[in-house]
Amino acid sequence: MAKRGKWNSTLGFVLAAAGSAVGLGNIWRFPYVTGKNGGAVFLFFYILAVVFLGLVVMYAELSLGRATQRNPVGAFERIKPGSPWKAVGFLGVFTGVGILSYYSVIAGWTLYYFYISSLGKFSQGLTEAQIDEVFSVFVSNPFLTVLLLVVFIFLTCFIVSRGVSSGIERWTGILMPLLFLILLILSVYSLTLPGAGEGLKFYLKPDFSKVSLKMILSAVGQAFFSLSLGMGAMITYGSYLSKKDNLFASGIEVVAFDTLVAFLAGIIIFPTVFTYGLSPRAGAALVFKTLPFTFSKLPLGRLFGPLFFFLLAIAALTSTISLVEVATSYLVDERKFSRPRAAFLVGAVAVLLGIPSALSTSSSVFSKFAFGKSFLDLMDYIWANISLPLGALLLSVFVGYIWGAEKAALEIRPEKHRKFPGEDLWIYDLKYFVPIVLSAILLFSLLGSS
Ligand code: TRP
Repeated sequence: MAKRGKWNSTLGFVLAAAGSAVGLGNIWRFPYVTGKNGGAVFLFFYILAVVFLGLVVMYAELSLGRATQRNPVGAFERIKPGSPWKAVGFLGVFTGVGILSYYSVIAGWTLYYFYISSLGKFSQGLTEAQIDEVFSVFVSNPFLTVLLLVVFIFLTCFIVSRGVSSGIERWTGILMPLLFLILLILSVYSLTLPGAGEGLKFYLKPDFSKVSLKMILSAVGQAFFSLSLGMGAMITYGSYLSKKDNLFASGIEVVAFDTLVAFLAGIIIFPTVFTYGLSPRAGAALVFKTLPFTFSKLPLGRLFGPLFFFLLAIAALTSTISLVEVATSYLVDERKFSRPRAAFLVGAVAVLLGIPSALSTSSSVFSKFAFGKSFLDLMDYIWANISLPLGALLLSVFVGYIWGAEKAALEIRPEKHRKFPGEDLWIYDLKYFVPIVLSAILLFSLLGSS
């Protein structure tokens, strides 16, 4: 078998894994879901979910990957040969392609917005209505949305085809620090706006009378999606780690970085939303419809507009890389494909599945496809709301009971004969708390009420 890829350094791994985690989920989805769910209360439960569920499952995935040095399918097979458990790995492979297909449609939008904002489109003092129109004219252009989908997936496959250290690690190592820098600049800027006080109050001062079960479950779902958990991305990235790398520290770093970026996205968005009297509850269009309006008002909007959308595109790219990588690693490890062939095959399937999603905003067939949802929304529901929690649930049962949480814990320990901080809590959490909460989420999603 050809030699498997490896990260050159632990930092390279942390940046790549953080790159997978940080994406549209943090910068586009997190602020709008937070806005819709009342701001600070949501943030509060989100952080609880990250610490008590996300971090726990993160360690489960990373330890399984590193212990087996395999893609998700191979990892289950290695621990429990000949058992049906490898189906969980396959579920992950398909889920990756499924998420990739519609995620790249939105990622394509960010390319367009980067393009028009660098042309100065949003510095011409457009009204809110005109900006809405820019959005609707763009998304109803089937040619453009499909083209951008193809471009985005092609870029991703190109990087993945270059391999683990000279493709993924090299690129994420440049892109992630750049992204963080841009975010910091924008946050500082946004804190100087006149509406900063009101924005921060909405974002940081919880009103616990607004708590509901649905809101808590959506905080948990957001945490899993944001941390790239539930489909084996972290199993795969963990599998390129060597035994010398410190899993315990890396896991915390990745989770902390992802959470920090989501937090900063909120710091950027809420003060601007309140400064210009927009609604924090604008929903999925929050970034695309309200921020350009904001940029058109800002003195430096001509600069910050393109910067912001560039950042969003980068963040999305380092995430789609991990979505392609899961299926690619399966084809390379288990089916003996060459890496470029595997990556581009995965991309081609995702493009085909993605086209109806790209047409969801222009064609009447796909805009109300089934169950009153557009094709894109339906994809999101199936892959993110059902398949991911199911994958994470099965994975936690597998690591907790079949492989054994105690064995996994050994893999996480920085020193083999000493427990890592919180080890007993981690084992308990993985075996009992995680499966219960994930079952609840799944039940909610299947009943269609989440
Ligand atoms: N975490 C990414 C984001 O927040 C999206 C993503 C990449 C993802 N890989 C994943 C989500 C694997 C779930 C599973 O945008």
